[in-house]
Amino acid sequence: MTPLPRHLLPLTAAIDEQTGRLRIGGLDLLDLAAEYGTPLFVYDEEHLRQRCREARQVWGDGVAYASKAFLCKAMATLAYEEGLHVDVSTGGELHVALSAGVPGERLVLHGNNKSESELQAAIEAGVGRIVVDSFDEIDRLERLGHRDQKLLIRVTPGVAAHTHEYVMTGQDDSKFGFGLASGQAAQAVERLRPGKPGEAGKAGTLVGVHAHIGSQIFLLHSFVKEVEALAEFFTALELPELCVGGGLGVAYVEGEESPPMEQWSATVKRACHDHGIPTGTRITAEPGRTIAAAAAITLYTVGTIKDLPGIRTYVSVDGGMSDNPRPVLYGSGYEAFLPRAANAERPRAATIVGKHCESGDVIVRDARLPIDLAVGDILATPVTGAYGHSMASNYNKVPRPAVVFVQDGEARVVVRRETLDDLLRNDL
Ligand code: LLP
Repeated sequence: MTPLPRHLLPLTAAIDEQTGRLRIGGLDLLDLAAEYGTPLFVYDEEHLRQRCREARQVWGDGVAYASKAFLCKAMATLAYEEGLHVDVSTGGELHVALSAGVPGERLVLHGNNKSESELQAAIEAGVGRIVVDSFDEIDRLERLGHRDQKLLIRVTPGVAAHTHEYVMTGQDDSKFGFGLASGQAAQAVERLRPGKPGEAGKAGTLVGVHAHIGSQIFLLHSFVKEVEALAEFFTALELPELCVGGGLGVAYVEGEESPPMEQWSATVKRACHDHGIPTGTRITAEPGRTIAAAAAITLYTVGTIKDLPGIRTYVSVDGGMSDNPRPVLYGSGYEAFLPRAANAERPRAATIVGKHCESGDVIVRDARLPIDLAVGDILATPVTGAYGHSMASNYNKVPRPAVVFVQDGEARVVVRRETLDDLLRNDL
């Protein structure tokens, strides 16, 4: 019934008292929809910058933005400008970050199956860190033979975080990293660093340990368990760096509350202290979702409203699983509201669906909407800034939406809307 909770909206969101219309970055959302079309990702640039600054402040230098959450040249530049390193997990993300002008030394390369050419490209770009994930990758790095390349070893700490199975990564049964419990992490260190701490091996120079236990984690205690699991192994190695990965949870729906970033870092640092990790260790993290998610909302146009008497109402919009696959993949929940009446009560129950040819194409199951919702309305879903645009597809040959950044009354398109011809660009 209740209006959309304010804390799900971006930082500069403001509701016009007279009209009830929502502005972000000083711009009216209905005007943006009219100018740039829908579906449209609208990012509050001030929100992104504030979150980056907060990350930098609470974690210090070394913290990286996990670009898989949302990446385009403008975002890579923004994260770099705000003093963050950028975590890239494929040659593609590497290419975008480099094209944006992020210096190689500010990049961290991840991936459980990096090809030799991806490794080569990263080394040529002078990436700051490569996070080594498998014995086969060590073979490849040894063949490439750059002993000065700084490396982190990715360790699977054997911690099952409380989150969706698909985004859990720290448990022993994982495709990522080297297991601690199995002894493979220790074997990998033997190969990466045959000599003393700080001495280079054939694959590069090991400077630290990395772990990542999963994503959308609300329980800070999961990170304490991660540190607990890593402490003895890490301390014995006498290495200068420990990265605890990303994963801080974000509120998507009414009733959810995410822990502040400051609390996340304080909890991790206290756990490091309590478990004997030497003071002076560079303790870092790689937040993605917590930087980008709440910075954006998606605007859609309502095209069809179908009332099935005694069953439910389907509200169809002009996007769907191609711009937000998270409900289909993880059963993720979202809220919806009308930017023309952002404070309105939402008594009308409806399921918001996309325009794709399958029943699973749901954006919000059992949404609550204002009573006067009508065809032609601009409908918004908040908290779509992470893993929406970055996981978008062309399913059913639907062109991907545009992305605009708004700030201080100005909008700039940072990713243009795909055209129908873009859908043919690779066809021969
Ligand atoms: N570091 C590593 C090594 C990661 O694999 C990830 C996310 C992060 C950092 C950033 O995690 P975050 O702070 O964003 O939670 N598509 C899924 C999420 C997949 C996360 C993949 N790895 C979703 O939409 O929920």
